[in-house]
Amino acid sequence: MNTSTPHTAPAAPLDLVIFGGVGDLSARKLLPALYMAHLHNNLPAATRIHAVGRQPWDRAAFVTFVQEKVRGFIAEKAFADATWTSFLERLHYVCADVTLAEDFHALAAALQSNSDRMYYLATAPNLFVSICAHLRGAGLVDERSRVVLEKPLGHDLASARQINDSVGQHFQEKQIFRIDHYLGKETVQNLMVLRFGNTIFEPLWRSPYIKSVQITVAESVGVESRAGFYDSTGAMRDMMQNHLLQLLCIVAMEPPVSLDPDAVRDEKLKVLRSLRPMTIADVAKDTVRGQYSAGASDGEAAVGYLQEADIPADSNTETFVALQAHINNWRWANVPIFLRTGKRMAARQSEIVIQFADLPFTIFSDSAHQSVNRLMIRLQPEEHIQLQMMAKEPGSGMKLRPVNLNLDLEAAFSERRAEAYERLLIDVIKGRLTHFMRRDELEAAWSWVEPIINGWQQLNEKPKAYTAGSWGPAASSALVAREACSWIEES
Ligand code: BG6
Repeated sequence: MNTSTPHTAPAAPLDLVIFGGVGDLSARKLLPALYMAHLHNNLPAATRIHAVGRQPWDRAAFVTFVQEKVRGFIAEKAFADATWTSFLERLHYVCADVTLAEDFHALAAALQSNSDRMYYLATAPNLFVSICAHLRGAGLVDERSRVVLEKPLGHDLASARQINDSVGQHFQEKQIFRIDHYLGKETVQNLMVLRFGNTIFEPLWRSPYIKSVQITVAESVGVESRAGFYDSTGAMRDMMQNHLLQLLCIVAMEPPVSLDPDAVRDEKLKVLRSLRPMTIADVAKDTVRGQYSAGASDGEAAVGYLQEADIPADSNTETFVALQAHINNWRWANVPIFLRTGKRMAARQSEIVIQFADLPFTIFSDSAHQSVNRLMIRLQPEEHIQLQMMAKEPGSGMKLRPVNLNLDLEAAFSERRAEAYERLLIDVIKGRLTHFMRRDELEAAWSWVEPIINGWQQLNEKPKAYTAGSWGPAASSALVAREACSWIEES
């Protein structure tokens, strides 16, 4: 009998290169996520992490930067001195101007021989084209290489296409990971299980049993230190075009035939292509742009957007968008879809609410409450799912009162819940594309969003002011009230 352990080929060495390696995203999200992956032994043994930046630093200076800037983004309970030290040993730094072909020689020299290469492009999107071309020029791309493209992918449909065309000259579609970190959130992935791993919702998951869908991604923070980026981007391009539309795809898609990346992405694409295009009249009626004015946020005074450092005093950039969308297909005909996102709102709260239909007729005519069945899927700050049902209020009479069936996922599972970036980075390492956007999805999202942005330009109206720390302009409440709905803003 052969008692030897089965032979498994050792994983190839991995070189993970972060362009924009000393930027905000790298310091706050990517490097902390990689530390967590390292802590939980999810990185191949021979993994090197190379940060590429313009700073004339050596490795020691970069490690100092990581000690000072990244350490603070790691939860205390996940921190261990020995693990941190071994993580730092994985780090390398390459000083390069990514627009110069010759600077890629230094990167080539730093990579391990015969390694798998993963390039994370966390720079401004206008550098993606030159980075990919120079990687190819320096002989750093082969069929095992993968490239991760951070959002925003372009500023409009034309620039998104241009980036996709250029990146596509050097990488095949199956090597391109367009990241939307909302797709890496546990509750968002769980929404697929809720819909397709249970039988009870699917028969009701359609018109006319659903009265409306609302998706809110509210943030209490303002522009933070990203004034330059944010003012040329705005809430529509920063959040709606990607995160909210991706959430909508998962809520609204048909059951995919499998979890195969293309099976899932085909279904999401159909949703995006079924969104009813907005005419200029629809833009005027069904969208609300807002901009925060001075108020209070998280218990502290907050300046208005126009008073934020480095924001032009006459900026028309929106920090809030609410809109009513429609999906033109059998499942969703006549179901209003409300999407809203903003900075400096009353709370950090991201939630999907499925509002079921009103009772066709009530026999409980004495009750002040009528049926309000709704499924609430809270993504942030905590993750939980609630199904609101009606129950009889104790006592005499037949009065109704809403009560919640609670699915407290944090209490139900003792397993660690990885952050979105950690989960998605591991997906890239393992070559799993299901939770990344395909080119046609991204372009379909731009195709729907662009006429809205153009409509705003034509209408030439200033964004509506809302007080920092509120739920947005009054017009946003009016938008949903028109359909006999209201935003759900429970904490
Ligand atoms: C990013 C946006 O994509 O998402 C930011 O550029 C925003 O403006 C962030 O703050 C929100 O992400 P999360 O995971 O904190 O909700």
